[in-house]
Amino acid sequence: MTGTAYSPRALMSLLANGSKAMDVIRTALDLGLLDALEEADVGVAELGARLDVLPGRLFKLLDCLESLGMVRAEAVVDDYTLTRYRAVPGLRRAAAEVVGPGSLELDRDRYPWRMLYGDLAGVLRGMTSIPPHAFAWPPQGAVQLAGFEQSMAAGLTPFVQTFRTHAKLLWNTPGSRLLDVGGGDGTLAAHLLAHSPDLRVDVYNLPEAEPLVGRTRLDSPHGHRLGFVGGDFLGEPLPAGYDALSFVRVLHDWPIPTARMLLRKAHGALPPGGRILICEEFRTPERLAAQFFWSYFLMGVDACVSRLYEIEHYVRLLRESGFGDVVVLPGPVELIVATKKDL
Ligand SMILES: C[S@@+](CC[C@H](N)C(=O)[O-])C[C@H]1O[C@@H](n2cnc3c(N)ncnc32)[C@H](O)[C@@H]1O
Repeated sequence: MTGTAYSPRALMSLLANGSKAMDVIRTALDLGLLDALEEADVGVAELGARLDVLPGRLFKLLDCLESLGMVRAEAVVDDYTLTRYRAVPGLRRAAAEVVGPGSLELDRDRYPWRMLYGDLAGVLRGMTSIPPHAFAWPPQGAVQLAGFEQSMAAGLTPFVQTFRTHAKLLWNTPGSRLLDVGGGDGTLAAHLLAHSPDLRVDVYNLPEAEPLVGRTRLDSPHGHRLGFVGGDFLGEPLPAGYDALSFVRVLHDWPIPTARMLLRKAHGALPPGGRILICEEFRTPERLAAQFFWSYFLMGVDACVSRLYEIEHYVRLLRESGFGDVVVLPGPVELIVATKKDL
């Protein structure tokens, strides 16, 4: 992770002022301050003139950003308006992602987490939970499923990038057929088709997801290569007839024995030499921070495990489940590819 490593006390001071910190970040982004600070070291007086704000107030906002570990200040001189600041790399982009349109954090905020708020001890003792009508796992009914799949699709960008980077290597056989297991509303599948003209992808998901994938098919110029197979992977074998099966952000939702069972089912469904692809946010401090919302909210939803695991965890499960030649392809999220061996 970039930025400052805080003591527990310092971190709590910041967290206790979290809503103000977000106000500072939003304002800095909207004013163009973050753009200016990414270009070069800039002095407070110059920034004040450029942004049409008062330097005597601006340095306090910059101090707020510095206390958050987001800007670095040059040693203070007698005249503080000459103090020069610079953003830590990636600050502007991160701020735009978190407070701008398409923010995953704002999307997550619409889930009913307030049903747990203030009563975590009761939650931990099993007395308070998220009721299934508010959020069930798997999502129940057309409205819940549509809302959830929309949330998932909103966070697909790093996954699309990884798959796109490796498209030639992954789909080097003409007419390859992929089953995207737990494939949401088909958004990832549609992206894969756009970058691989010979590929065909079927989404495997709960039957209620069919209209969602149908809409994605209609919206995609490659929809004629996008199919849907409805089913419940907990209760049925996975369908055969595919060269590869992908699990994107699926295995981490389940207890490890269930993930192992799904890998065994994948082994059963694939032909000899068939490939399995696993892509999810493998556990790092940065990704655990992004996972905070789900770690909190899902304390009230026992059916969903949603735990991030290291890559090695899946390599081990894959080997136990009859897969070999494990390769980890790099990208904004890594992609694990393995090949079916005889058990
Ligand atoms: C966390 S979402 C990931 C969606 C998509 N792969 C993505 O990354 O955007 C998990 C997916 O698994 C599907 N799913 C959950 N339980 C399932 C089951 N028993 N059988 C088939 N699909 C299931 C959900 O409907 C959802 O599409």
